[in-house]
Amino acid sequence: MKPRLFVTRESFSDVLDRLSGYYELEVWDRYKEPPYEVLLAKARESDALFTLLTDRIDCNLISSSPRLRIVAQMAVGYDNIDVKCATERGVYVTNTPGVLTEATAEHTWALILAISRRVVEADYFVRWGEWRRLGTAWHPTMLLGVELQGKTLGVVGAGRIGSRVAEIAKAFGMRVLYYDITRNKALEERVGAEYVDLDRLLEESDIVTLHTPLTPETKHMINEDRLRKMKKTALLVNTARGAVVDTEALVKALREGWIAGAALDVFEEEPLNPNHPITAFKNVILTPHIASATYDARHKMAELTAENLIAFYEGRTPPTLVNQEVVKIRPPGFTT
Ligand code: GLV
Repeated sequence: MKPRLFVTRESFSDVLDRLSGYYELEVWDRYKEPPYEVLLAKARESDALFTLLTDRIDCNLISSSPRLRIVAQMAVGYDNIDVKCATERGVYVTNTPGVLTEATAEHTWALILAISRRVVEADYFVRWGEWRRLGTAWHPTMLLGVELQGKTLGVVGAGRIGSRVAEIAKAFGMRVLYYDITRNKALEERVGAEYVDLDRLLEESDIVTLHTPLTPETKHMINEDRLRKMKKTALLVNTARGAVVDTEALVKALREGWIAGAALDVFEEEPLNPNHPITAFKNVILTPHIASATYDARHKMAELTAENLIAFYEGRTPPTLVNQEVVKIRPPGFTT
């Protein structure tokens, strides 16, 4: 009998077809994620889960699912999963690093360019008739933005995505500062990036871009104190996780002009309420958590999730296993 795999959302059919050669699949086919109670019931009777970042895989769910052996997440971030609890119970957790680096870095640059050159504001300006109302085709001070060349980019979190964002900055002739808990010498050599502490990065950067995972240490890392350290002309970009920024403090910073603007792809509350105060600022650009949303990246993410599940099925260590220590607790496969 094949092991049972619950797939929490419809995915690419070629990937699901491949998986069905190994697993008995049940796919949640609604657009919206399964409610927690449903997830709990499905997990209870599953040997494996194919999850998204919107699925809460907490210790209650893990410990009440005796058959569960692997949670294969289709995302690089896994702050929705209680990994410690999974490890203790011999449950494998995998993610999809690498395959979305380019897409996420490109979206970060889309946001950096859009916020610094006021692209969204300019689109409204044309679309809603403001340009026409002004009655002139061109004015020396119309919709002025910020030039990137010679400016300083501050990269917070110099993993795969942060490093790629830093590399691209070179093409714009920017100086790059970075902060991480570990020094990235390769990045320094490749890009000429300078390793600094977070305070100095915030004080000196014209654009601050966030690329850290969400952990208890990074939660609200960008708080009121830190926002006050930024330049009044600086822009904040977040394509990491919403809760890395204290949103309330960010709203205050924007309202009181401590910084010049922000471009956000991720939020503490997702989906964001359209009445949230952050939506009222002209100098803020918002996108709905789509930094990895290219066909290429999403397909590769689904494929890598499947590879992890297939490797586990075949008794091999999954290629992108998050909790390496679990191997000592239980070998991969469904035989034990
Ligand atoms: C998306 O946010 C991801 O973590 O892959």
